[in-house]
Amino acid sequence: MTFLGKFFTSKNLSSPVDLSVLKCDMHSHFVPGIDDGAKSPENSIELIRFFYNQGYKKIITTPHIMGDFYRNTRETIFSGLEKVKHQLKSENIPVELDAAAEYYVDYEFEKKIGKESLLTFGKNYILIEISYVNQPDNLDRVLFELQTNGYQPILAHPERYPFWFDSIDKFEALANNGVLLQLNINSLTGYYSPQSRKMAEQLIDRQLVRFLGSDCHHTGHLEVIKQALYAPYLKKLIDSGLLLNNTL
Ligand SMILES: [Fe+2]
Repeated sequence: MTFLGKFFTSKNLSSPVDLSVLKCDMHSHFVPGIDDGAKSPENSIELIRFFYNQGYKKIITTPHIMGDFYRNTRETIFSGLEKVKHQLKSENIPVELDAAAEYYVDYEFEKKIGKESLLTFGKNYILIEISYVNQPDNLDRVLFELQTNGYQPILAHPERYPFWFDSIDKFEALANNGVLLQLNINSLTGYYSPQSRKMAEQLIDRQLVRFLGSDCHHTGHLEVIKQALYAPYLKKLIDSGLLLNNTL
């Protein structure tokens, strides 16, 4: 059975969820050629057009910044962004496009806190991700340093970290400490793994999710989002009234 075939054997909504109520997507990789996201300006436009057609008014795209792989800077991100904005204008796609970053928590990141101005959006929100292998040794310290420097950390896709698949309490604790949790839409289909889907649903049940993001890298992700629109948990999350996307 195909992946999508499997998804459709579970109980799905009869009509798709309307994502336009979110107004803003705040996690994606649409600056071409600087990370593992969009490959070219044309590819960026193809991806952004999908979100515009879903009714989003604003996209805050978040290229990876990692000490090892993607050594992006404010300059690499915003010079690439300008090209995409120019292209959007010439294609007549009236969506607001801005950029921040998805910071990988490593020692290089920790060194930057308080020393340089980091890329944020909204109310000084900063999007961070961590290793999929283990909890970083410096995580608690990094979160503390971010907060004492006036940032509001958003943890990207908490449902995707295998070492926390059985640790819903960890997320309760993070949320109680002011860390905002961002779910990936596609997690609700089981696209990443059945365990991520399960954790995504638990996070929604516990009312711990504050942002919903696409984390879109390529057109394959668009196909999965189209299926996710029929996930009952997507409706449950949006109807919870707890999401902050529309405040951005
Ligand atoms: Fe991402």
